[in-house]
Amino acid sequence: MAKKASSVELLLPSRDKAQPAYRWLSASLRAAILEGRLRPGTRLPSTRELATQHRLSRGTIVAAFEQLRSEGYLEGTIGSGTYVTKVLPEAWFQVRPKAHSKPTASRKRLMRLSACATRTRLFEGYESRPTRAFRPNLPALDLFPMSLWTQIAARLLRNASVNLLMGCEPLGYFPLRQVVADYLNASRGVRCVPQQIAIVSGVQEALDLMGRLLIDSGDRVLIENPGYSGAAKLFEAFGAKLKAVSLDDQGMQLSLSKTPNVRLIYVTPGHQFPLGVTMSLARRLQLLHWAQESGALIFEDDYDSEFRYAGDPIPALQGLDRNDRVLYAGSFSKVLFPSLRLGYLVVPQSFVSAVEATKSLTSRHAPLLDQAVLCDFITQGHFGRHLRRMRLIYAERLSVLLNEARQKLAGLLEISPVEAGLQTSAWLLNGVDGEAAAAAAKEHGVDVAPLSRYALTPRQREGLQLGFAAVDAREIRRGVQKLAVALEKLSRSHRNFAPVPLGNESRPY
Ligand SMILES: Cc1ncc(COP(=O)(O)O)c(C=O)c1O
Repeated sequence: MAKKASSVELLLPSRDKAQPAYRWLSASLRAAILEGRLRPGTRLPSTRELATQHRLSRGTIVAAFEQLRSEGYLEGTIGSGTYVTKVLPEAWFQVRPKAHSKPTASRKRLMRLSACATRTRLFEGYESRPTRAFRPNLPALDLFPMSLWTQIAARLLRNASVNLLMGCEPLGYFPLRQVVADYLNASRGVRCVPQQIAIVSGVQEALDLMGRLLIDSGDRVLIENPGYSGAAKLFEAFGAKLKAVSLDDQGMQLSLSKTPNVRLIYVTPGHQFPLGVTMSLARRLQLLHWAQESGALIFEDDYDSEFRYAGDPIPALQGLDRNDRVLYAGSFSKVLFPSLRLGYLVVPQSFVSAVEATKSLTSRHAPLLDQAVLCDFITQGHFGRHLRRMRLIYAERLSVLLNEARQKLAGLLEISPVEAGLQTSAWLLNGVDGEAAAAAAKEHGVDVAPLSRYALTPRQREGLQLGFAAVDAREIRRGVQKLAVALEKLSRSHRNFAPVPLGNESRPY
């Protein structure tokens, strides 16, 4: 029999001295088994260990074990280990509880959820489905330098100080906050000192922290449309009233007069999610001016724009801001790997203590060992090298996608220009519906996300989001070929049943 666990320390009730010891022990073990505290297959401590723990003779333990063995509760032999029987005797007689008994009024009261919980909706994550063309939001995980990461982690664990096992301050491991500050100042056009940085569990936790700090039920939040549903769902859970703001080829289109009393504006200026537009400098300055005039704060989600392939780098909104209006968040999910769950939030000095207090009451701090490994990975130069290498690889993959699409998807799909990130968007032609296109593509072994999935209001223009980073050039070529077959079929049937007028290319985003 496979050893399930090494011996467990058994917590047994105290013994009534009038009761023979072996009876007390067998009754206590039987009760522990029947109550599920000792699960089928659990290995019991040896007779010697039990005798020492409970100050009994080994003969007493052997007698109790024998009793339970004869009743069918235990199996195995003395010497090779004693286990709780896999199929328990009572299981043969068990009566199943009624499956659909109606919850009583008191049970309903007990299960009542808070207003926030009632508004909270599941946000689907990275299920482990196969990575194929054109899965969006995912870096090339097969190219991550895992052996370097492993070496750093092993060295760190071998020499781990007591402090490293104890914990760190709520805002994170200070050496990591220092290197993140250096990186953001040098490479991302962010202006900050380490004290303004909180290490968080990805952008998602940054959104959660700021939601807790800033949003009261009924507060108005502006959000790009189409936009990131992880942000929309979170703000809704906090009771925010969302207002969808449309986009053009420069980013969010704000109109000063139309939207009073805005608490927060959520934007992805580096690489708009999901359309891929980079917000122009003029629009950034306009947005900052707008926020200043209206008294709103801005949440700048810079989730993947370290990968820039074209155009001049534009400083982050945070770096252009002179009035402490911007909360800036970034992530290691796309530059390294998503399961790391580490990112950063940069806040104006006046918010630091509120973020610190909130973090101390929620997760206390991000996992320290992972923070320390990441810190060494960056300071030893591996982060910069990995980033530069991946930028070249992704640029090559993007160009393969664009070339192939030009040849094989002409007349079916119009790919938008993109300057940064891991994915792009494309407009469907011939009046083909986004959900139908995604379903047809899936049947042909291709992953695409319809843009309508990210829309807060019904969309005029149907399109798809296409990731180009996670798979190699060969898979991209295969994907384009398959997508062309799927869309051609759909377009043909659409043309037969619902012809659309020509000239729809000039419709707005
Ligand atoms: C626009 C956008 N913001 C934030 C996130 C979440 O990032 P993180 O993994 O850092 O929580 C994602 C993830 O895909 C994203 O697409």
